[in-house]
Amino acid sequence: MNLDGARTVRELAIEIPNATRTFEKLGIDYCCGGSRSLNDACQHAHVTLEDVLGELEQGRNFKPATETARQDFANGALGELVEHIVGTHHVYVKQELSRLQQLLKKVVAVHGAGHPELAAIQQIFHGVSKELSSHMMKEEHILFPYIVAMENAVSNGRPRPRPAFGTVSNPVHMMELEHDSAGAALKEISALSSNYEPPENACFSYRTLYAALKEFETDLHQHVHLENNILFPRAIAMENGAEATL
Ligand SMILES: [Fe+2]
Ligand SMILES: [Fe+2]
Repeated sequence: MNLDGARTVRELAIEIPNATRTFEKLGIDYCCGGSRSLNDACQHAHVTLEDVLGELEQGRNFKPATETARQDFANGALGELVEHIVGTHHVYVKQELSRLQQLLKKVVAVHGAGHPELAAIQQIFHGVSKELSSHMMKEEHILFPYIVAMENAVSNGRPRPRPAFGTVSNPVHMMELEHDSAGAALKEISALSSNYEPPENACFSYRTLYAALKEFETDLHQHVHLENNILFPRAIAMENGAEATL
């Protein structure tokens, strides 16, 4: 990779994987200011060329949670699965919610008049952001700690803790309904964006937004799969005494 400060921001944004993510983080405009050299852009954003090159190099290795190594979650400890879900998918969702809201704000401000579907997408995404933030908080603070505590108790031969919510099926049912709602919202966004296909004349931010939304939906599917199809049924089975621990 030729990382030369004399090259334009746009060239680097196209050539280097995840460079747009790095530029957003550092406040470097790769869209309207894309024709600037990286040297100029660094001065403008008050960052050193060295720092940007380091971040670009690091960013190349960024992998969405969906692409990280698959472990055998169907048989491993539930605590490890919970750790994986929170450490990869929840971290990713939180990071992307704020990144995508900012991108949407920018793209709607510039192209909203000519593309009314963008404002509709923004509104749906705003709703799904609020829902997912509260959803993940409930998982992280109520449901997941119970599942981990139950697994510890069972594997140490202690009685299962008595949850305030009666049985684990109750919050699981609520989480599944919320997954359906988030999935439906993303499906609507996908339809509004013609399956994340930007118009031909779309600028770089527009294209980045659609690519990021597409990645977000893919990640959500994997995240929900791990919870609905593996974690929740195994937790219910364990509560019923039907699943042995490791
Ligand atoms: Fe989750
Ligand atoms: Fe969930």
